[in-house]
Amino acid sequence: MKIENVIKKFNKELDYSCPKCKNLAKINNISLKCINNHSYDFSKKGYIHLINNYKDSKYDEKLFKARNYVFSNGFYKQLLEEIKKFINERKSEIIVDLGCGEGYYIKELKEKYPETYFYGLDNAKSAIEYAVKYDKKNPYILANLANIPFSDKTVDLILNILSPANYEEFVRILKDDGLVLKIIPSSNYLKEIRNLLEIDDYSNQETIDQLSKFADIVKRNLVGKTYTLSKEDAENFLKMTPLSFSKEISEKHIENLKEITVELEMLILKLKK
Ligand SMILES: C[S@@+](CC[C@H](N)C(=O)[O-])C[C@H]1O[C@@H](n2cnc3c(N)ncnc32)[C@H](O)[C@@H]1O
Ligand SMILES: [Zn+2]
Repeated sequence: MKIENVIKKFNKELDYSCPKCKNLAKINNISLKCINNHSYDFSKKGYIHLINNYKDSKYDEKLFKARNYVFSNGFYKQLLEEIKKFINERKSEIIVDLGCGEGYYIKELKEKYPETYFYGLDNAKSAIEYAVKYDKKNPYILANLANIPFSDKTVDLILNILSPANYEEFVRILKDDGLVLKIIPSSNYLKEIRNLLEIDDYSNQETIDQLSKFADIVKRNLVGKTYTLSKEDAENFLKMTPLSFSKEISEKHIENLKEITVELEMLILKLKK
């Protein structure tokens, strides 16, 4: 991809934050450059790489390929529609998806809201490379949640979907009236895979307790349903989840996974200052 076409997707007026020293950085020619002259080049591969000493993530290409299948087949469409409803309710100029994976949500959202800037950020190269291959419109950043390259109070809405959070960074980058839309699993989420792989039941109470230290929950609702699976669906569901990171997936597992529950909690968070 031509460098100009990569840079075009980024908002040049916006203040960024240097991933090295956290001082003000601006887009300057083909780089992101801070006031201390730390410089990061945009890549012809279609994104900007902001991780010093990058280490491979356990989230690999196989996982994102399987996630892409699952998304393309509509299993998370209901959640996407709920996210759209929320975005409709308030005007946002800058929305960032932190831990965006292969970019399913912002790719779809950009079609509906072409005037809004949607940024995708993830620390897995395979995620970002998958995203830029299929999403030609949004800007993508390879970066860590501990060093989010947006300047203080520049972001209207953070999407944080089934991904870790860094509330210190979230509160720094959000505008005063900014919000976080956080998606966490319900106790029923992918329960059929837990049963099959003999993984303990899950409760999100610990996550809720933890985030309540940093945020007030403005709204909380449950989204999802149970689907019947084809063999191909089953195989991709088994490969798309970190639940199978430490397990060997066999043909028998695939044959025995007949149904899947995609039930998630959508939380709207107002962060405490
Ligand atoms: C379960 S996936 C969810 C991805 C995507 N939001 C989705 O729903 O398909 C979790 C994502 O968080 C990313 N992630 C984990 N730790 C991260 C960190 N410290 N900084 C940035 N991204 C991180 C992973 O690379 C992975 O893409
Ligand atoms: Zn710097």
